[in-house]
Amino acid sequence: MRKDVRILLVGEPKVGKTSLIMSLVSEEFPDEVPPRAEEITIPADVTPERVPTHIVDYSEAEQSDEQLYQEITKHFLSSSQANVICIVYSVNNKKSIEKVTSHWIPLINERTDKDSRVPLILVGNKSDLVEHSSMETILPIMNQYSDIETCVECSAKNLKNISELFYYAQKAVLHPTGPLYSPEEKEMKPSCIKALTRIFKISDLDNDGILNDNELNFFQRTCFNIPLAPQALEDVKNVVRKNMSDGVKDNGLTRKGFLFLHTLFIQRGRHETTWTVLRRFGYDDDLELTQEYLFPLIKIPPDCTTELNHNAYLFLQSVFDKHDKDRDCALSPDELKDLFKVFPYMPWGPDVNYTVCTNEQGWITYQGYLSQWTLTTYLDVQRCLEYLGYLGYSIIQEQESQAAAITITRNKRIDLQKKQTQRSVFRCNVLGARGSGKSGFLQAFLGRNLARQKKIREDHKSYYAISTTYVYGQEKYLLLHEVLPDFEFLSEADVACDVVCLVYDISNPCSFEYCTKVYKKHYMDSKTPCVIIAAKSDLHEARQYYSMSPLDFCRKHKLHPPQLFTCNTAEAPSKDIYTKLTTMAMYPHMTQADLKNSTFWLRASVGATVFAVLGFAMYKALLKQR
Ligand code: GTP
Ligand code: MG
Repeated sequence: MRKDVRILLVGEPKVGKTSLIMSLVSEEFPDEVPPRAEEITIPADVTPERVPTHIVDYSEAEQSDEQLYQEITKHFLSSSQANVICIVYSVNNKKSIEKVTSHWIPLINERTDKDSRVPLILVGNKSDLVEHSSMETILPIMNQYSDIETCVECSAKNLKNISELFYYAQKAVLHPTGPLYSPEEKEMKPSCIKALTRIFKISDLDNDGILNDNELNFFQRTCFNIPLAPQALEDVKNVVRKNMSDGVKDNGLTRKGFLFLHTLFIQRGRHETTWTVLRRFGYDDDLELTQEYLFPLIKIPPDCTTELNHNAYLFLQSVFDKHDKDRDCALSPDELKDLFKVFPYMPWGPDVNYTVCTNEQGWITYQGYLSQWTLTTYLDVQRCLEYLGYLGYSIIQEQESQAAAITITRNKRIDLQKKQTQRSVFRCNVLGARGSGKSGFLQAFLGRNLARQKKIREDHKSYYAISTTYVYGQEKYLLLHEVLPDFEFLSEADVACDVVCLVYDISNPCSFEYCTKVYKKHYMDSKTPCVIIAAKSDLHEARQYYSMSPLDFCRKHKLHPPQLFTCNTAEAPSKDIYTKLTTMAMYPHMTQADLKNSTFWLRASVGATVFAVLGFAMYKALLKQR
């Protein structure tokens, strides 16, 4: 909301400008007034809209033209420009009315920016002196100039419409009609329709195209803090029914009906109602979503990561459910398009389908959808906040801001010290020489064997793959990141992760050396657990051109022996290796000796004893396999 409102009164001499101001302030008509009233400031708490309001008088006798222009024109570095101008005339003085169009409106228009015109209010003073109204003369002027917000007849003498006049002026600044409504076309402007349509879609919780009583009540409560009385609800629907045939359907409000109601509010001068709704949903005066709404401040300390909390997952789940119309637990291209209709652009490209799990048709599954959200939150929390803003997260979940969706994890160093972690997303960097099978390793995690991978278009490829694994009964996300092989240029951030996979191609004798180089350069002295993946294990094994065999290399550096892996399978490739990686990411301090020591499992599993016992059995089984 803006800081204050500046109202300027102009008009011919003796029409009663100064008297109007004095009448407002003293609540009685002053018999004698100075030519020009001092600027007065009304404190926020006594104005209807609770904003400090300055009222500025003009007097031809006391001020030069230059001084007048200064009040009207916006100056660089100056905030003293009028936000609304009242052109005062006297209802018993024809000449003062003529001057409104012949002098005052052109004078103001010449000195204000065409794109940011100040709203004008026509004020007919001295209504106590005449029987008839000046409206007949004024209405054509109103229709001619769209900058004229409203007109009002008043009397400084008998205090008629004085507070109304200043209230309208305040309202013209705080709730301008300009962005909402086109008086020439007598309909709402396209950008306003767009914003209200988005609001309708967010409020339509079951996505059936109708706001039922529940949804209307929720909407009413979020926007105005009070529920609608059942009778009021009926009245609203009846107004719509009377005016259009398809505004009410199945006893609920359609999008058309919803838009009609707002047009009605605006046409009846109640546009503050529409503004309240728009502002509640994050819009500013230009009908853009504000930065504060989309990007609330959130500070991520170093060595911490960002995850979605339980409440955010529940919300995203409900968003998924409302768009998965056929309930096949996957989003068809149409369903996905529908889901992102509340976005200004389509956020997910075709690469997303190769970053997360899809069904046989290649459509993103429920699990894949949550994975993609998890990935965005982890890699780019600002973007995640922005997306949640488009979906109306903070409004629907009644949260302070989108930031309420985010959990910032504990510093990883503390996790390492305590040998325990609450995190649920773990990052695994996958490195290897060109063609060693990294992408295959990523896609296999999403359940795709080699045959399915061959169908992926080059420009749809993704360097990330994310899905869930279960470690001791707990669901965790493992994020695989394929790092480009030019490791000379790897930054610290590129290297940082929770577990590393070094991939070589058993059929290519030159591929293992790359793994040894990366290992020595980046990971040998770090605490990050490392796994060597012997990829393409379905092919004939070649002897590696390196001073040591891969197995000897692992022994020497106390690594697990190379893990045989192939994605050239008939069915979906096995997920064992990914569970193993997640386990290592969760318990990085675990050495091979630790793995054989059962007390480790008791320590690692405070609060999850059952899983620990189960886990121990599982891990023992894994160890036996090697
Ligand atoms: P300048 O400062 O010269 O531009 O004039 P102004 O527009 O400030 O007018 P001002 O308030 O000085 O009023 C001019 C005369 O009109 C005074 O004699 C007021 O008493 C009288 N007047 C102002 N308002 C009203 C009104 O509502 N009714 C009647 N009957 N007289 C009014
Ligand atoms: Mg005056």
